[in-house]
Amino acid sequence: MARYELVKRSVALITLTNPPVNALSSAVRHAISKTMERALSDPKVTAVVICGENGRFCGGADIREFAGPLRGPPLVPLLDAIEAGEKPVVAAIEGVALGGGFELALVCHYRIAHYKARLGLPEVTLGILPAAGGTQRLPRLIGIPAALELITTGRHVSAQEALKLGMVDQVTEQNTCEVALEFALKAVGKPLSSRRLSTLTTPCPPDLDGVFEVATMQVQKKARGVMAPLACVQAVRAATLPYSEGIKRESELMATLFNSGQAQALQYSFFAQRTAEKWTLPSGAQWNNSKPREIRSAAVIGLGTMGRGIVVSLARVGISVIAVESDKKLLETGRQMVIGMLERDAKRRGVSASLSLLKFSLSLQDLKDVDLVIEAVFEDMALKKQIFRELSKVCRPATLLCTNTSGLDVDALAGMTDRPQLVAGMHFFSPAHVMKLLEVVCGLCSSNEAIATAMSLGKRMGKVSVAVGNCPGFVGNRMLMPYLEQATFLLEEGATPEQIDKALEDFGFAMGVFRMSDLAGLDVGWRVRKESGLTGPDVDPKDPPRRRQGRKYCPIPDMVCEQGRFGQKTGRGWYMYDKPGDTNAKPDPLIQNLLKTYRTRYGIQPRKITDQEIIERCLFALANEGFRILEDKIAGQPEDIDVIYLFGYGFPRHRGGPMFYASMVGLERVLERLEYYHHAFPDVPHLEPSPLLKKLVARGSPPIQKWREHIKSMHSHL
Ligand code: 3HC
Ligand code: NAI
Repeated sequence: MARYELVKRSVALITLTNPPVNALSSAVRHAISKTMERALSDPKVTAVVICGENGRFCGGADIREFAGPLRGPPLVPLLDAIEAGEKPVVAAIEGVALGGGFELALVCHYRIAHYKARLGLPEVTLGILPAAGGTQRLPRLIGIPAALELITTGRHVSAQEALKLGMVDQVTEQNTCEVALEFALKAVGKPLSSRRLSTLTTPCPPDLDGVFEVATMQVQKKARGVMAPLACVQAVRAATLPYSEGIKRESELMATLFNSGQAQALQYSFFAQRTAEKWTLPSGAQWNNSKPREIRSAAVIGLGTMGRGIVVSLARVGISVIAVESDKKLLETGRQMVIGMLERDAKRRGVSASLSLLKFSLSLQDLKDVDLVIEAVFEDMALKKQIFRELSKVCRPATLLCTNTSGLDVDALAGMTDRPQLVAGMHFFSPAHVMKLLEVVCGLCSSNEAIATAMSLGKRMGKVSVAVGNCPGFVGNRMLMPYLEQATFLLEEGATPEQIDKALEDFGFAMGVFRMSDLAGLDVGWRVRKESGLTGPDVDPKDPPRRRQGRKYCPIPDMVCEQGRFGQKTGRGWYMYDKPGDTNAKPDPLIQNLLKTYRTRYGIQPRKITDQEIIERCLFALANEGFRILEDKIAGQPEDIDVIYLFGYGFPRHRGGPMFYASMVGLERVLERLEYYHHAFPDVPHLEPSPLLKKLVARGSPPIQKWREHIKSMHSHL
């Protein structure tokens, strides 16, 4: 777990050996303790260098150990002993020094970083704080404002920025370990007292109270209801006290966070993201038996809202792209937009824009030789079918054909081609060059190789990719329907858009459902409802106004659209805005009137609706659909659903995602409440508990990590 060598005759080189990130597991802590004791007690040793194997210094505490009782030596005394030692210790930082890894570097007397290394204290993103002295030593090293910013955001910084901030002593492009060894030899004999951070006084800005007031306000505004950032502010404030008092405060604050539901949710989210990347489909197909193809060239068809962002995402990772539009004017508009986006993006990232990789065309004939095509034309099945038919004729047989449809049948498109095994969905989210989520939709015939290629391309573009099955709306948009519907039924029953939004925002969503709909545009859903015959001229005349296609239907969203209220873009939607495009939503008396008139017309007596009912109806209906998705083998595991909601739909990360949230509330409770609401509102859709939820409760509500086994056994009994 840590290798010990004597090099250059008098330097003890301690190498952490716990792949893949040299996390500080109990065994590693034990090994550091033993090797340090040996180095400090060996008279031949004059200095020590600590580095990590495989080009990675250390990724911090072993998060997997947080769930169990503490084993092995605790970290704080171990680190204190390194700092207090009489021989100079140098950290040779390659790859990453994060969390406890950076705290280890902070107790070393000197820090040398490779120019590609990243450093930081990301504990806050896991719902905790840097509790091995990080909140006390970093402010002493770089001052309060910079330390506050790093610790409350958990941001990783580059070696260059770390040097500027004073977090490291030197940045090198050479072999870091070699440089550190030379450095260590030169440090021998120099006084160490000024290098022991815990003995220093924290430099304080003149307006100390003001700095902390602003920081508190900022984290309260940004992280509504999230505990860890506030605790981080308080811990950094304690760095103004003598070290012994500050470290005591750090530890007390950590104790309040460590076993909290928020910390569990955030740590679950960390691992869920990594589980989703190792995709497993319910069919059994999975990442480790499929090799992705290399993608060098691609084409994007349609340069609208989505197409432009997809072109940018591809080009910025060095893939040459042919972008196709339907007419000259639209092509030119699209071209200018893409170039502008790439230039702004390159400026922000400090690199040159990859414009030479782009070609613009009006003809599908130009796509003969590309490795992959992503279709992003209007959500119109007939048009998409025609394009896939044509692509099948034009593109070489090995070209992968993907669609960015937000919910149409991928198999129907595959059926238009001579290579259904090479057809898949690549469902990006808007704006496609910003949003991290990519749903990779596996059709009935999609080969493992096609899915592996789309997944690995997603990763290359910096996306969090989740493999899902094919059904209307896939995972994300299919689940959105019950969530949105509950919200509109609650309006019918007596709630207001602002009341529902406030309850959801207090829960942690960045935006409530109506504010989000105004941002996305209400016309999109209206068009889909019209096309599916739920509203508009194609409605079955036998259907009464509040029943459609055999079930209860709430026409309020259609009535809002009929008034030309499409959301922010028209300056009116569920809210009113000062002008079209404005984002400041204000309650609109016209909407209150519309709701009043509607309720009177249908004899609905409005009732007082509590925030608890809003949260339960919206979120339990959401999770209930998630259970059905697992039953239907559209998602392979609950983690996939949660990752989709965390990265694509703004579900608060400190709640872990809809499925984790349900597991935290308790499946029995979720079942009981759904049964209650289903009984109270028997014809409101989506409230009837799913068979999988019932089965899991009947099996004693196993923890979420075990659901997969139960789902598997359920499928094998079908
Ligand atoms: N503990 C346990 N496992 C960890 C880990 C950690 N700190 N960091 C990474 N891993 C695991 C991942 O789960 C993954 O496991 P898997 O292969 O079984 O899925 C594997 O290591 C590789 O991780 P990634 O896929 O994330 O590899 P990348 O190369 O993409 O990223 C990384 C590497 C930047 C180090 C990233 O893993 C990361 O951000 N890790 C977490 C860092 C962190 O938050 N550290 C703080 C921990 S808390 C702490 O230190 C408390 C202290 O104050 C006392
Ligand atoms: P859009 O209307 O902004 O853009 C579509 C573009 O396709 C237009 O520029 C149009 O001129 C072009 N086009 C139409 N026919 C064409 C043809 N034959 N050849 C070349 N170009 C053609 O639509 P948007 O929003 O970009 O959506 C595109 C696809 O992405 C749809 O399937 C949609 O469901 C999906 N999607 C949309 C999201 C969104 O938030 N807008 C999110 C995720 C997916």
